[in-house]
Amino acid sequence: MVEKVRVGVIGAGLMGHGLAQVFALGGHDVTIYDAVDASLKTVKDRISTNLRDLGDDPRAVERVRPTGDLKDCVRDAHYVVEAVSEDLALKQKLFAEIETHVSDATILASNTSVIPITDIMRGLKHPERALGTHWWNPPYLVPLVEVIETAWTHPKVLQWTMELHRDLGKTPAHVKKDVPGFIGNRLQHALWREAIALVEHGICDAETVDTVIKAAFGRRLAVLGPLENADMVGTDLTLAIHKTVLPAIESRPGASPYLEKLVKDGRLGFKSGEGFRTWTPAQQQALRAKVLQHLKKARESDAATNEKSGRSA
Ligand SMILES: NC(=O)c1ccc[n+]([C@@H]2O[C@H](COP(=O)([O-])OP(=O)(O)OC[C@H]3O[C@@H](n4cnc5c(N)ncnc54)[C@H](O)[C@@H]3O)[C@@H](O)[C@H]2O)c1
Repeated sequence: MVEKVRVGVIGAGLMGHGLAQVFALGGHDVTIYDAVDASLKTVKDRISTNLRDLGDDPRAVERVRPTGDLKDCVRDAHYVVEAVSEDLALKQKLFAEIETHVSDATILASNTSVIPITDIMRGLKHPERALGTHWWNPPYLVPLVEVIETAWTHPKVLQWTMELHRDLGKTPAHVKKDVPGFIGNRLQHALWREAIALVEHGICDAETVDTVIKAAFGRRLAVLGPLENADMVGTDLTLAIHKTVLPAIESRPGASPYLEKLVKDGRLGFKSGEGFRTWTPAQQQALRAKVLQHLKKARESDAATNEKSGRSA
């Protein structure tokens, strides 16, 4: 177990407030900074609502202190994690400033979704204390945190950060090479590329793509990874399938022209009411609620399994 530490969270948006919640629930003291006053003013209420909704200890919010002063947020922190907008220049600028306010031992992490950590941290005086921690939304319900090392990351920094997240009840995954998209988003977007291509080439409509995934291999994915699956059916069968299927599936290196056109036409998905499909406000709300319900049930099921294995150990 790592000791309880002081954590600085930079950015109080969708991810930042969730990260602050998980650290506070894990017993750490959290200071959270945002440049936008409205984000800061609402952050404790958002955390309280989540804690109550999940049946977690509502007193955890007392360990979260919002501040509009970056120096105040980080100067006493042992660990700083950044979750501001996905903008390389902004992240670089913030880390350069943060480094002037913290001790040489303070560990610095970015929650970027896809930007290489090396690009974000290359200007630091002490890049050996920096790494990536990629959480998934909502951070208090999805277990995975990808922990990304760069060529500079000190092994002790990596090890401590893995342990920190394990102690929080998360599932840390070590990403050994700092590649764009890390592991999860590379896998996810490889699937999305083919999903879009199926629609683009008229093989089926968008709803059918989603139905095929949800009603077939999506059902197994939470308990059966693709490589476990390949071993289960046999690597020889997997090889035979690949020889037939891989030459036929999408392999273009850039974004799909079909997707480019959707964006150009203003079909932006939920926010414009139409993307691959049309969405009424009620349909949007229903889908969001369904996903949340599913993730909550999965968390309950994980907790029950852990309790059972703890009892039998
Ligand atoms: N949303 C997701 O599903 C998800 C999942 C994993 C990782 N991420 C990554 O996490 C990061 C944050 O994403 P989000 O979805 O929480 O975004 P968000 O827009 O909800 O929050 C970003 C926050 O950053 C603040 N901000 C912007 N400029 C700032 C500045 N100069 N100083 C301080 N704060 C500033 C904004 O006010 C906002 O509160 C991004 O890098 C994103 O790629 C997002």
